[in-house]
Amino acid sequence: MADKLFDAARKAMAFAHVPYSQFPVGAAILAGNGEVFSGCNVENAAYPEGCCAETSAISAMVGSGQKQITEIAVIAEKKARATPCGGCRQRIAEFGSVETLVHLCDKTGVVETIKLGDLLPRSFEL
Ligand code: THU
Repeated sequence: MADKLFDAARKAMAFAHVPYSQFPVGAAILAGNGEVFSGCNVENAAYPEGCCAETSAISAMVGSGQKQITEIAVIAEKKARATPCGGCRQRIAEFGSVETLVHLCDKTGVVETIKLGDLLPRSFEL
């Protein structure tokens, strides 16, 4: 499954809208029902209005009625082993658990898999 998510994240990364950073990112989620949802970063001339690849993938998942992230892969063309930013870790936590697998990728595939609980210990919860 990690390979399938890598592939989906890589394909989504090709659609990244990154005229300001030139830093394409892709993400792909395995949802609770077995479906895969992917997304890319989408930047905006008003910089803070841009969104991360993980956020796009989460929106695609929630917009299709799914609310559980079992696994997620993240790839950034210009950085080996890119990790989700702090805000995206919290967004992943909203729909994941400490056991959610986060696959960190380089151009060739998954290079490390880490549990969300290790990437974002003691995440905020209500
Ligand atoms: N970016 C992501 O898509 N995901 C992350 O986890 C970190 C950063 C994007 C935001 C922006 O479009 C570009 O990478 C440079 O920060």
